[in-house]
Amino acid sequence: MDWRAFANLLSSERLPAAIVDLDAMDRNVDRVLDALAGTDKTCRVASKSVRHVGLLRRILERGGARFRGLMCFTLEEACFLHDRGFDDLLVAYPSLQASALADVAGRVAEGATIRPMVDAREHLEACARAARAAGTTLEVVLELDVAYQPARRVHLGALRSPLRTARQLVALAREAASMEGVEVAGLMGYEAHVAGLPDDSPFSRALNPARRALKRLAVPQVAKARAEAVSALRQAGVDLRLVNGGGSGSLDTTTAEACVTEVTAGSGFLCSHLFDYFRAAHFEPAAFFALEVSRAPTDDVITCLGGGYVASGEPGWDRLPVPWMPPGLSYISMEGAGEVQTPLRLSGHGPRPRVGEPVIFRHAKAGELAERFTEYLLVRSGEVVAREPTYRGEGGCFL
Ligand SMILES: Cc1ncc(COP(=O)(O)O)c(C=O)c1O
Repeated sequence: MDWRAFANLLSSERLPAAIVDLDAMDRNVDRVLDALAGTDKTCRVASKSVRHVGLLRRILERGGARFRGLMCFTLEEACFLHDRGFDDLLVAYPSLQASALADVAGRVAEGATIRPMVDAREHLEACARAARAAGTTLEVVLELDVAYQPARRVHLGALRSPLRTARQLVALAREAASMEGVEVAGLMGYEAHVAGLPDDSPFSRALNPARRALKRLAVPQVAKARAEAVSALRQAGVDLRLVNGGGSGSLDTTTAEACVTEVTAGSGFLCSHLFDYFRAAHFEPAAFFALEVSRAPTDDVITCLGGGYVASGEPGWDRLPVPWMPPGLSYISMEGAGEVQTPLRLSGHGPRPRVGEPVIFRHAKAGELAERFTEYLLVRSGEVVAREPTYRGEGGCFL
């Protein structure tokens, strides 16, 4: 859709509005299916990168048998999704919240598949306590740190699990085996420094060659670490039912690993703008938001109402939404995306939105857009076909 098509679509809508192009999202699901073709892997959908029940349902439905389960971001979110009919839920970030673990254990006792992530004895103990109280066993997944570590004290990758070696994993698996109420069922190693690192970021071009070099060096190292971990755990008698890795930005390399049973993808389905800069991942923009142009302070500046939807992560210009349509709009460096107002400079190329007309933006991160809107307008063939609540619209606020 071009800017005129968006403007027509939104002419009688309240602004700000968030829009998802279901046709583009379907094609992104098909791209993930293509990445899985010829492999024995399935895709687990990262709910944090969607945060919208209606869209999660549509993604799983289109993915069919090759898409299996959700990767959740909190225990409470997993219960919220279970209430809405989802199952096979891997909670990828550890938590010791007793009430949430009790809720999870109660559901598992009644037949749900919800697996918490663990990397420490304390996690195992909290899971085991909840499981025993519910008269069940919680299947847990161990997280391996697969960061690139070329030298002591150099850690290139996300700081997540302290478990860096197969030996440490086996030791924790043995602790689990000695505890009533928990059982190790899987392994996860997330290569954030591959899956989350763009090759051609326009925001910090000088670092692109270093990023690409790191990725080249890291990929074989991640594969080796995961394979060694799987083999050591199996030798120690652990029945691994899932081995999870990767993300939207690493489908090509993660699916190539024999020991991996499933890859994760989330951001690629909506393709927030940080996913424009990967060489191996080709997704198309499917999620947008529209702000009203509310004033024009100078001849070459228009100001939108709202817009400061800054994404999480290392602070920088790449965390701001990009003004997407009409083309030729840029931020004013001293203001950026504002809490209440966002001025944009016009380049003179492309149409000039008038006061009252919309400017279309794309968020930097796919799921965080849903924290700003209560509903998404779902569009097919250029027409709004449904309006469905985001997590926020359903009162779901988990972090
Ligand atoms: C454990 C884990 N796996 C996979 C992903 C990748 O998700 P996405 O495809 O949304 O980038 C993430 C993102 O942070 C993650 O934390």
